[in-house]
Amino acid sequence: MRHVLGIETSCDETAVAVVAADGSILANLVLSQLDEHRPYGGVVPEIAARAHVEHLDGLLGRAVETAGLPLGRLDAIAATAGPGLIGGLMVGLVTAKALALALDRPLIAVNHLEAHALSVRLTHGLPFPYLLLLLSGGHCQFQIVEGVGRYRRLGTTIDDAVGEAFDKVAKLLGLGYPGGPALERAAAAGDARAVPLPRPMLGRPGCDFSFAGLKTAAARAATAEPAPNAVDLAAGFQAAVADILADRAKNAIKLAHVRLPDLKHLVLAGGVAANQTVRRRLDATARECGLELVVPPAALCTDNAAMVAWAGLERLALGLVDPLDVPARARWPLDPKAAPAPFAGGQGVSLAGPHRRPHNWRQA
Ligand code: KG4
Ligand code: ZN
Repeated sequence: MRHVLGIETSCDETAVAVVAADGSILANLVLSQLDEHRPYGGVVPEIAARAHVEHLDGLLGRAVETAGLPLGRLDAIAATAGPGLIGGLMVGLVTAKALALALDRPLIAVNHLEAHALSVRLTHGLPFPYLLLLLSGGHCQFQIVEGVGRYRRLGTTIDDAVGEAFDKVAKLLGLGYPGGPALERAAAAGDARAVPLPRPMLGRPGCDFSFAGLKTAAARAATAEPAPNAVDLAAGFQAAVADILADRAKNAIKLAHVRLPDLKHLVLAGGVAANQTVRRRLDATARECGLELVVPPAALCTDNAAMVAWAGLERLALGLVDPLDVPARARWPLDPKAAPAPFAGGQGVSLAGPHRRPHNWRQA
């Protein structure tokens, strides 16, 4: 059976995994750089790249040891080559190239978004086609997944990505870093109806998103007199996001049905898919529309290398391997035919300090 080693270094997680073609995960190690970035309240690209350099070798050794597989038994080396922070991508990709050369094995340059998109095939063996809602720190988009390398984007955010909005509002509320999980914990103790917030794009045709106005409204509410409870504002924000996602998903399912009358599954992926309120809401929406919601376990929704190794296995099976001079790419759309997203940038208030995740840094 084939085995592929996967490397993920596109943002602030250094991750290495070994996965077999039958879907068994022999090793899946993730080292989050939380302590390095916490003082800045966001990911600092240069610090991330340096931390990948420092941690990757050791993690590789531990992953191979955990997998209990001699290096010579690996059939290919896969690494995320984009989209993401270019310094980190180069660290992972160059390491993968060195391994591929030394072991005389094929190299597979994986699109990070494709790794998220295919992870449900690793965890659930889901057949193509399906409708994917990618909810992450750098992206928020609906894609019809027709096959490996075959994507059709139906909608995307016109400003912030959903995870970015979670992180910024969490920072504003002083909930700590990383923001998404902290906001979810705070929201559990809050009353979602206490602070009314807008739901941008609700009821509009199509399935694009906008989160800048919601983020601005949350910022205004936070500084209002008297100040609302942080937990209520967190709950209100999370409820607004869930409403927006549900509304957009209904339209996306209708659009997808035009191409795929037999569509059966709505799939979530990306870090925000770990959020329980979001999952419950989209589960209800999918059922209402006659679909089943399928979501990988939380640890495989957030960034990891098992999904990269799996995307490598899928591509290897189709003979889709890459030359050793393949470049890292900061931007790399899944659906090259989709028009570039009209990122408004600068809409809404800026909630971040000088050191922040670059705006729309992983948008494709
Ligand atoms: O997919 P991911 O790990 O990295 C990217 O590819 O961007 O997603 C990270 C994003 C961050 O914005 C993080 O705050 C958010 O996912 N996130 C969450 C939760 N867990 C992670 N957002 C809301 N609720 C969560 N439980
Ligand atoms: Zn990701």
